[in-house]
Amino acid sequence: MSDWKHRHIIDLATFSLKDYESVLELAHRFEEIPSTGKRKLPALQGRLVTTLFFEPSTRTRSSFELAAKNLSADVQSFSPSSSSLNKGETPLDTALTYVAMGSDVLIVRHRSTTVPEQLAKALDLTGKKTAVLNGGDGLHSHPSQGLLDLYTLAQHFQPEKPTPNALKGRNITIVGDILHSRVARSNLWALTASGADVTLCGPPSLLPEEFESFVKAPPPGQKNDPIKKRGKIKVLRNLSEGLRDADAVMALRLQRERMSQNLITDINQYHQEFGITHERLKVCKKNVVVLHPGPVNRGIEISSNLLDDNSISLVEKQVRNGISIRMALLYLITAN
Ligand code: CP
Repeated sequence: MSDWKHRHIIDLATFSLKDYESVLELAHRFEEIPSTGKRKLPALQGRLVTTLFFEPSTRTRSSFELAAKNLSADVQSFSPSSSSLNKGETPLDTALTYVAMGSDVLIVRHRSTTVPEQLAKALDLTGKKTAVLNGGDGLHSHPSQGLLDLYTLAQHFQPEKPTPNALKGRNITIVGDILHSRVARSNLWALTASGADVTLCGPPSLLPEEFESFVKAPPPGQKNDPIKKRGKIKVLRNLSEGLRDADAVMALRLQRERMSQNLITDINQYHQEFGITHERLKVCKKNVVVLHPGPVNRGIEISSNLLDDNSISLVEKQVRNGISIRMALLYLITAN
């Protein structure tokens, strides 16, 4: 892992294939640890990890905290509702307060796209060693979710050796509210880097046509794409067409809290057109699997029966894999 170069993890756009391989390989090793009987590893002993979530979270925050504890770190969390944000303190000053208390890693979630990146830049400028890990910023990026989704798929296609290469030539369909989804954006970088072809499917109000060229230009702030050859992206409006020959389908939550206008007029109509059910999966490949990053609106983006059908649904596995992926990320950014 000595060629790991990222001091902070803000966006998967800057990840090389080697970066993806390093994270997945380490997560695979960490996943095997509980079966040896050693629950905790000493890797982060004496380090302080702070979860700084300005937006709600169940999975990301709890699994980062568990991951940090599994590596023997001390863990500190923050509750926005009872914090000095209410007295007018800015998110940046709040974060710097935790840095002053000695935090080695800040895991930051915020509704504004720029907060984790601004914080990382501020720390670099002042020579502070604290690392920033983006726990989800606005519509922009959710790198740990993109990586755990990649790992879950690699594990499904190639259980003995879950590498990014396991996705080469696979058809992955992402359905629903792509516009408001940082998960979809992180998945687009990760899946195309691994050589998968991605079909995006949803109504025009939630899936602008421009997503077809999402990975065509070099990633923001970079002259060249670190990935030589990416898989393709296409946009389709009809679910049956979008699901045809899919190896895996990812349903996304309708993020009504981020919709400034009434982009969906009839939720039942939406389910009829874009809801994933057993019946609708019949046009996919035979052993198709279904993912959802959670939280789920049962019966809207996915039927309740399908969500609970563990012969097809990988949702529980996604949650479990979140722990080993986040252990790998914490290990890698604190190793140097
Ligand atoms: N997938 C995801 O980010 O879930 P939480 O909002 O519960 O963290």
